[in-house]
Amino acid sequence: MRATARAQPNIALIKYWGKRDRVNNLPAVGSISVTLADLYTEMCVSLDETLASDRLVVNELENAAMLPRISACLDNVVGRSRRHAQIDSRCNFPVAAGLASSASSFAATVVAASAASGSTSSTAELASLAGRSSGSAARSLYGGFVELRNTPGDVSVETILDGDQWPLKVIIAVTSEGPKPVSSGEAMEISRKTSPFYSSWLENQPDDLDVARAAIREQDFEKLAGVCEHNCLKMHSVMWASRPAIVYWNSATLNCMQTVRDLRSTGSAVFFTIDAGPQLKAICLESDEQRVREALSATTGVVDVLSSGLGDGARLLESA
Ligand code: PMV
Repeated sequence: MRATARAQPNIALIKYWGKRDRVNNLPAVGSISVTLADLYTEMCVSLDETLASDRLVVNELENAAMLPRISACLDNVVGRSRRHAQIDSRCNFPVAAGLASSASSFAATVVAASAASGSTSSTAELASLAGRSSGSAARSLYGGFVELRNTPGDVSVETILDGDQWPLKVIIAVTSEGPKPVSSGEAMEISRKTSPFYSSWLENQPDDLDVARAAIREQDFEKLAGVCEHNCLKMHSVMWASRPAIVYWNSATLNCMQTVRDLRSTGSAVFFTIDAGPQLKAICLESDEQRVREALSATTGVVDVLSSGLGDGARLLESA
């Protein structure tokens, strides 16, 4: 009744922003991401009849804030009449700061919980269950370049291209390690209800998905760079035009954008993307990794730089 799983965060290249069904947490748009290799979350789930309630420990500290969402995720996977669980989580990067820790946490949780309860769910079923807790988590069940498509009443997720076929690098410029001011779920709802740009965001997404999917299949970096930066800035424009405005960036985020533009204008193959937080993620060819790392490390306001290759989907480490 105990299992441990590991999952890596994923970084969206074509973003998910907005929900079509809040009860089942279904996204309003499809999305494309890359699964990372070097950042990870491990979740050990023990279903134990002697426990009086669920208990979550993250990096050796009791975490009551995240417990309700993890408990709800366990209910989805194991069933509401399940035993209580002790959940021990280990994460090797800052949590709740726009580094997609919820994606890796929920992806690892569904794999561990499913194994601990003796179920034999498929990866597709686990992706759908993870997506009910965090839309982006569904993508972390798969490795490499991953597309999430909307299907009636559900999502379907697949790898478009394995990471080792096009080994791009992701360099993360951390500009603040604090938690984000508004959760992405709450912010999406504010955007849906108030942003005048929300409907055109939904309308244009299929075109961006088509261009990005083709660019990945053709391994056309320029084409991918163009559509991904455009898609990221459109998502943030939707947020900025919401009421109240949702602004996740700080001045260092803008400095990093300028660094990436300067690098590109002097010949580096690199582009940026930014999620619901102030960190900037630079995607580059392997040959440009060192240059991009150095330039972002030297950018004013950057407190840390992490880098990663592309990795595999969530997997079970042990079960007993
Ligand atoms: O899965 P959530 O609820 O954490 O939302 C993720 C939203 C973005 O990271 C901004 C975009 C994405 O597609 O991952």
